[in-house]
Amino acid sequence: MNKISVKNYPMVNPTPVVILGAEVEGKPNFTTIGAFGVVCLEPIFYISVKSTHHITKGIKESGFFSINLPSVDMVQKTDYCGMVSGKSVDKASLFTTFYDEHGNAPLIKEAPMNYLCKVVQNTTICGFDVFFGEILSTLTGEDYLTENKPDPLKIDPLLLMGYQYYSLGSAVGGIFKEGLSLKNNQPTSINDEINPHLNS
Ligand SMILES: Cc1cc2nc3c(=O)[nH]c(=O)nc-3n(C[C@H](O)[C@H](O)[C@H](O)COP(=O)(O)O)c2cc1C
Repeated sequence: MNKISVKNYPMVNPTPVVILGAEVEGKPNFTTIGAFGVVCLEPIFYISVKSTHHITKGIKESGFFSINLPSVDMVQKTDYCGMVSGKSVDKASLFTTFYDEHGNAPLIKEAPMNYLCKVVQNTTICGFDVFFGEILSTLTGEDYLTENKPDPLKIDPLLLMGYQYYSLGSAVGGIFKEGLSLKNNQPTSINDEINPHLNS
């Protein structure tokens, strides 16, 4: 198939959409973001938020934020939290809010997974504040575990790609398992290129 060139728009990765929480001027606020992810093997997330957002002020003030992973059935509230600002609307009243002893950021009880993060580094780019947050607490409910591990299909995360929300679908293979038959048939130098983590 021939390749065709399409618009240079960065929202191409399917990514879990998350509800970011922070205390702003002494009140909880929640904001939907798609610019969120993993940066290294240490427990650190990055988030990228517009500098003018209400939540950004709170993260700068407190040095903490929460990541709340909504399930597919929270799509309406998640979308809403990305449409209105905490400057004029109390978005916290949509949820049951709680706090963790390790830091000052509100968390959402209804979300299947919650992470409390402490800002360890930040930078700015093109009108956005990018915060790197160390995960201090990871919380879930028993209903979302299988053999004591968070089960993606039970969590049923809300995914974002382009301009649509999606659900996860089904598992199609195991990490570092599906490539094994190829790896075992390759010379060592090619194995190193396939996955340096396996060899370290
Ligand atoms: C699906 C979705 C993803 C979004 N992702 C981001 C994002 O990654 N960064 C950002 O700054 N704003 C993002 N927004 C926009 C903010 O959520 C929105 O402007 C919000 O009203 C800001 O609220 P606040 O002023 O209370 O912080 C997103 C909105 C939606 C609906």
